[in-house]
Amino acid sequence: MTQDEAKQKVAEAALQYLPEEGIVGLGSGSTAKLFINGVGRLVSGGRKLKGVPTSEASREQAISLGIELLSDDGPWVIDVCVDGADEVSASLDLIKGGGGCQTREKIVNQAAKKNIIVVDESKLSEKLGEKWPIPVEVLSFAHQATVAQLQQHGEPSLRMRDGKPWMTDAGNYIYDLAAGILAEPAELDAKLLNIPGVVETGLFVQRADLVLIAGSDGVRELTL
Ligand code: A5P
Repeated sequence: MTQDEAKQKVAEAALQYLPEEGIVGLGSGSTAKLFINGVGRLVSGGRKLKGVPTSEASREQAISLGIELLSDDGPWVIDVCVDGADEVSASLDLIKGGGGCQTREKIVNQAAKKNIIVVDESKLSEKLGEKWPIPVEVLSFAHQATVAQLQQHGEPSLRMRDGKPWMTDAGNYIYDLAAGILAEPAELDAKLLNIPGVVETGLFVQRADLVLIAGSDGVRELTL
C-alpha cells in the first residue's frame, strides 16, 4: 500500500465514528483533507453534520463541499474532531503543526468530546522527537527575543518559504524547534508556553482519545 492509499484508508475509517448528526472538528493536512472529502459525501447524502475548521484550507474545502460551518468565534460543543499528526508516540502524545495549523487545531481539539487522530504507520515513534521538531507558533513582534529563549530548549529554525518567513493563518511565524527525544513532553510544553511571544506549540500531550493507524494489514486502533 502506498502512503497515499494508507491515508485514504484511514480517513475513510474515521467516518464510522461520526454521529448521525452533530458537530465535527475538521482537522488540517493531507490526511484530514481526505477525511473532509468523506464528510462532504455524507452531507450530500443527507447527514446533518456541521463543521468547525482548523485552518483556512479546511474552511475553503468544507465550503466547496457544502458542509455548513459554525462561527469561528465559538464556543462550540464538538462531538468528534478528526485530525492528522506528524508524530505519534507509544503513549499517544502527538507532534502536530507540520502545516502550521497547531494553534487552531489545539483550540478545536480542546472543544471536542472525542479526538480521533488519523495517521499512517510512518508517523509512529516510541518517544516524541524521534522524527519531528516541535513547530512553535511565535508572534513576529520581537521574534528574535523569543527565539533567544527557545534556544534554551533546543535549536529553533524559522520556517521559510520563497525567501520569506512562512506565515500562519493568524499572521504569525513558525519556529521548528529541534529538541531531541522528549523525555517529558508535558513539562517542555509548559516551559515553551511560558515564554512571552510563544502563541502555541505543536505538542499535544494526552489529547488523542483514539488513534487510527493505516498499515499493510489494514487500519488498527490505539486508545489511551
Ligand atoms: C497541520 O498543521 C498538522 O498538524 C497536520 O495535521 C499534520 O501535519 C499532519 O498532516 P498530514 O496528514 O499531511 O501528514
